Amino acid sequence: MKNYKIAVLSGDGIGPEVMKQCLRVLEEVQKKNDFQFEFQFADVGGIAIDNHGHALPESTIKVCENAQAILFGSVGGPKWENLPSEQQPERAALLPLRKHFDLFANFRPAIVYENMLDMSPIKNEILAGGLDILIIRELTSGIYFGSPKKIDEDEALDTLIYRKSEIKRIAKVAFESAKKRGKKVTSIDKANVLSSMVFWRKVVEEVAQDYPEIELNHMYVDNAAMQMIRNPKQFDVLLCGNMFGDILSDEASMLTGSLGMLPSASLSAGNFGLYEPIGGTAPDIAGKDIANPIAQILSAAMMLTYSFNEIDAAKSIQNAIMQALKVGRTADIQVENLTVFGTTTITDEIIKNL
Ligand code: IPM
Ligand code: MN
Repeated sequence: MKNYKIAVLSGDGIGPEVMKQCLRVLEEVQKKNDFQFEFQFADVGGIAIDNHGHALPESTIKVCENAQAILFGSVGGPKWENLPSEQQPERAALLPLRKHFDLFANFRPAIVYENMLDMSPIKNEILAGGLDILIIRELTSGIYFGSPKKIDEDEALDTLIYRKSEIKRIAKVAFESAKKRGKKVTSIDKANVLSSMVFWRKVVEEVAQDYPEIELNHMYVDNAAMQMIRNPKQFDVLLCGNMFGDILSDEASMLTGSLGMLPSASLSAGNFGLYEPIGGTAPDIAGKDIANPIAQILSAAMMLTYSFNEIDAAKSIQNAIMQALKVGRTADIQVENLTVFGTTTITDEIIKNL
């Protein structure tokens, strides 16, 4: 029997409750397959600050190093908001974790199935036939990580830097992904203003030489934000630097109806990956059993696909979710005539459909 070692880092806010439901789904999936999961739990984020004095304790890194994949919930919350910004859960846990494991390639798919159009706040004719776009976000460089960084009394500074090797490797990921999909890459930049983005565009063009079968175009990020609402179906793969990818993926999530629906995979060069919902800890609804667990569960499906190559098992999860959504919805994607589910009850429905 194959054994998959997974580090489970639930974090804060709704993290633990959606993770709990996600693990219920995985336990059901392993019953039906010839593999089993070995879950190792560790603290991360605010809870780790409380328990260990640091958002990313050494012991948590060890647990992750011993695993083949990380299932991540979300981190942060009002309790830790007054800490100096470099000690806050998001900056002190998630970013170093991404850096430590060199998780440079962040996959953020936004999919709207034909029969789910009613969840989207966008006019249905704009999404007619459904939508399937994939944001490939560079995750370990750009303005998030460039140095120097500083805050003084009178000024503050962040550095936007991209090295050729960094642009090349993420561009390759985008072109390789496009090969398996709609064969189109839209590279997002701000080459009309920023030198780093003039360079980005040039290096992407170079990589494109190796992919003559892929259609490449470039788009300024402000225009892309507008086009994503005007005509999102023009996109297949969007290739973005760290910050633009962050922003556009939140926007893309609303095409699908809710931030609670979007999973992500952050991969290094091998099969190792970190899987997390793109949304945050939603402290306002934490502990009420009303949060949407689907982004977390879909993140686990991405783990099965990318780290373990268990494509059928991943598909069975996706299908079970789609079936459940025909019966009822959590509050964030509620519609008339369908049952209102909580975090646990929608998962019951998903498990029933596996
Ligand atoms: C995300 C989040 C993070 C980011 C935050 C929590 C640091 O918004 O994963 O999109 O900006 O990358
Ligand atoms: Mn974000």
